[in-house]
Amino acid sequence: MTSTSRRIVADYTLPRGSGTKLNNELERFALNGKTVLITGASSGLGSHFARTVAAAGARTVLAARRLERLQQLQEEIRSTGGTACVLPLDVTDAAGVESAYDSAEVQSGGVDILINNSGVALVAPAVDISENDWDRLIDTNLKGAWLMSRGFARRAIARRTGGSIINITSILGRRVAKGVAPYCASKAALEHLTRSLALEWSPHGIRVNSIAPGYFDTEMNRDFLQSGPGQAMLKRIPQRRAGSLAELDGALLLLASDASSYMSGSTLVVDGGHLCSTL
Ligand SMILES: NC(=O)c1ccc[n+]([C@@H]2O[C@H](COP(=O)([O-])OP(=O)(O)OC[C@H]3O[C@@H](n4cnc5c(N)ncnc54)[C@H](OP(=O)(O)O)[C@@H]3O)[C@@H](O)[C@H]2O)c1
Repeated sequence: MTSTSRRIVADYTLPRGSGTKLNNELERFALNGKTVLITGASSGLGSHFARTVAAAGARTVLAARRLERLQQLQEEIRSTGGTACVLPLDVTDAAGVESAYDSAEVQSGGVDILINNSGVALVAPAVDISENDWDRLIDTNLKGAWLMSRGFARRAIARRTGGSIINITSILGRRVAKGVAPYCASKAALEHLTRSLALEWSPHGIRVNSIAPGYFDTEMNRDFLQSGPGQAMLKRIPQRRAGSLAELDGALLLLASDASSYMSGSTLVVDGGHLCSTL
């Protein structure tokens, strides 16, 4: 060891007992004993979020329409010692959402944390979008998140348990791109809904926050990211790359856990600096 590296090690040696204090602080990020419902757990960000919260000790409720994919993920989580149940769910179906919560309560007890991750994209010039396509997107990305949040809050208020809701928005809710008008509008509205619900439900101990991801390689945008315009876009991100899913874990575990007990109505942007790129 050189004298410089010896000095650095000496400078960073923690005082006696501070390691225990740090461990206690980190325990606030754990999710042991919590039940987390993840919508859109059948692929992409949602599958990853389920693995992450399961590894942090939570029981997971995996919700989406494609049952087979949920069952595969359930097996994977169980094989690593985690707990998972599956919930076939279309977030646009109000009656289906209510019966899904009833079923989740039977399988896992009450839900403590809701991750509103289900979403769809549509790439088309605004003048060409049909009313049906507009409704499908807004119903999934915005109304679906509200239906899920309402079902969650009604139960948490009745049980007086409080809880945490995390809405997955997007940097496209902050700035716009061509050809994705309803998607941008849905994500901007979801970020604002986050603040409205945080205001209304804080007295009940329910925190509502959002994560606004930049670009992550999933089924939703893989074709775009591999295309010429997609590759050019990646070069405009200050970090010059898409994110990897694990880079969302810090924000997710912070907002899900007691470590963010004084946060509500916030949006954490995880985008490699994309929103700071020059206009
Ligand atoms: N990837 C990115 O770069 C990025 C960036 C910013 C924000 N986001 C957001 O992150 C979320 C996840 O996206 P992703 O990239 O992981 O895309 P993805 O792989 O296409 O996943 C979308 C998920 O939404 C579910 N879903 C769609 N319609 C649904 C419905 N009616 N009811 C229930 N579930 C439904 C799908 O499951 P089923 O088809 O099985 O129902 C699927 O699991 C979305 O809200 C997206 O807008 C993604």
